[in-house]
Amino acid sequence: MDSEKGGDSESYKRSTLLDINGVPFPSDMINGWGAIWNFKARPDDLLICTYPKAGTTWIQEIVDMVQHGGDLQKCARAPIHERMPFIEMFLPKLNFSGVEEANAMASPRTLKSHLPVQLLPPSFWEQKSKIIYVARNAKDNVVSYFHFHRMNKTMPEPGTWEEFLETFIAGKVALGSWFDHVRGWWEAKDRHPILYLFYEDMKEDPGREIRKVAEFLDIQLPESVLNQIVLHTKFERMKVNPMTNYTTMPSSLLDHSISPFMRKGTVGNWKEHFTVAQSERMDDLCVQLLKGSGLSFRTEL
Ligand code: A3P
Repeated sequence: MDSEKGGDSESYKRSTLLDINGVPFPSDMINGWGAIWNFKARPDDLLICTYPKAGTTWIQEIVDMVQHGGDLQKCARAPIHERMPFIEMFLPKLNFSGVEEANAMASPRTLKSHLPVQLLPPSFWEQKSKIIYVARNAKDNVVSYFHFHRMNKTMPEPGTWEEFLETFIAGKVALGSWFDHVRGWWEAKDRHPILYLFYEDMKEDPGREIRKVAEFLDIQLPESVLNQIVLHTKFERMKVNPMTNYTTMPSSLLDHSISPFMRKGTVGNWKEHFTVAQSERMDDLCVQLLKGSGLSFRTEL
């Protein structure tokens, strides 16, 4: 989103959620849904897809660095949300449409989405566009999403932590159930070119995961470039980089004084939010709802 298109962002109101095929979306996105569903993917598109707050920005910066051979200047050409259009984002009051931004972009494009697998525009499957999916454990993911609701004025009011956790478990947050999202994309990787990564693995050994990205994109990475990418995409670096930390957006939209976009960047911050009972309940839900999928998450390193 171009920060200069701020328009009357001062008067931007928190959104309500409305359903598309049973999945809640901010109401503005519903108005843009026809254009999203009919989105024309191209065979050489790369789509980065995640549940919100799973490490999207991190993998975006990694991918941009890999694509540009670790060239720092090229990766500083624009804020990350301008380098990679967010296809389902639609903010009519700010005159912003992710579909239009993507349509105007020359190939090869790298795009961003948070759509659950069943709502991905069909052209991505038809064109066999490559997809990188990043999943993050439910506990850290929901904590991050809670703080993001607090600071992002386009999201609904989160309520208290206890209330938000209930809403998240019920799948009544924007983009729906985390369980369905991570599972749906996990199952899709068996029938489509999808690289499925985990936030926890990226924290544990970023070099190893960056190598997977380069292989998936058929890009050779000399050791020195790999090391440069590891360094540049560390949390501490990305937190102070205006091209990745979302501080170029109007503060009436993202209020970093409430909670910074680059907040903690760790595995295990959930321990400062969950009670023992909440933690046990989430563990049980993961066992129950991910059963039979072969999908499992680490909640600490
Ligand atoms: P926290 O709120 O737990 O700190 P997204 O980009 O999908 O919105 O995800 C944001 C989350 O990823 C935030 O988590 C943010 O701090 C974290 N993050 C962003 N860049 C990161 C990096 N380089 N390393 C680790 N975590 C990162």
